[in-house]
Amino acid sequence: MERIKILEWKNISFVVPEKQDIELWYKWINDFETQSYLGSMYGNIIFKEDEEEYYEIVRKDKTNKLFMIYVNDDKKVIWNINLFKLDFFNRKAELWVAIFDKNSREKWYGTESIKLILKYWFEVLWLNKINLRFIEFNKRAQKVYEKVWFKECWRLKQESFRNWKFYDDIYMEIFARDFLS
Ligand SMILES: CC(C)(COP(=O)(O)OP(=O)(O)OC[C@H]1O[C@@H](n2cnc3c(N)ncnc32)[C@H](O)[C@@H]1OP(=O)(O)O)[C@@H](O)C(=O)NCCC(=O)NCCS
Repeated sequence: MERIKILEWKNISFVVPEKQDIELWYKWINDFETQSYLGSMYGNIIFKEDEEEYYEIVRKDKTNKLFMIYVNDDKKVIWNINLFKLDFFNRKAELWVAIFDKNSREKWYGTESIKLILKYWFEVLWLNKINLRFIEFNKRAQKVYEKVWFKECWRLKQESFRNWKFYDDIYMEIFARDFLS
């Protein structure tokens, strides 16, 4: 079935999440390497029903704008990006991005997706600030966030334990004024 494209830029589009995506999520999320980047998800066995529940929660949650990332040439979903904890009163939100399809990593889709969501943020939502968080060993994510103008603003020491080692959680932020300049 043709996917419903909401926004499109260069090689990727944002499409509406659909129930059929749950099958892929189920396949990809039960991979500990992928989970290792995702905070509290690490080391868990995720059931299909968990994702079905999450899908319903997100569908009804007006403070969460979730898009599936779709590669135009390949005509496939590689996973998602969302602005969550949207707070219109204080004009801020948090960002999550994940490319679960390992063959689609490091092809600039992550960078393009963040640039596209920043455009949506700037042109549609008009928020003042976006925050995000990552684990310090995730150098690829850090590189991408720095490329799209996020700056480190906070660090929590030894928040995550991976392979017998503790790692810090790094927080970053971007303001509308940074985007404008
Ligand atoms: C993090 C993620 C979104 C990045 O998207 P991507 O499409 O793979 O990344 P891009 O191709 O756009 O850019 C990757 C950049 O990191 C660089 N990079 C890769 N590995 C690196 C490393 N170990 N150290 C430093 N830079 C690295 C690449 O060279 C590239 O930089 P360049 O554009 O200057 O060449 C994606 O890899 C992903 O979802 N990973 C798994 C889940 C995850 O980590 N999510 C983020 C949780 S906070």
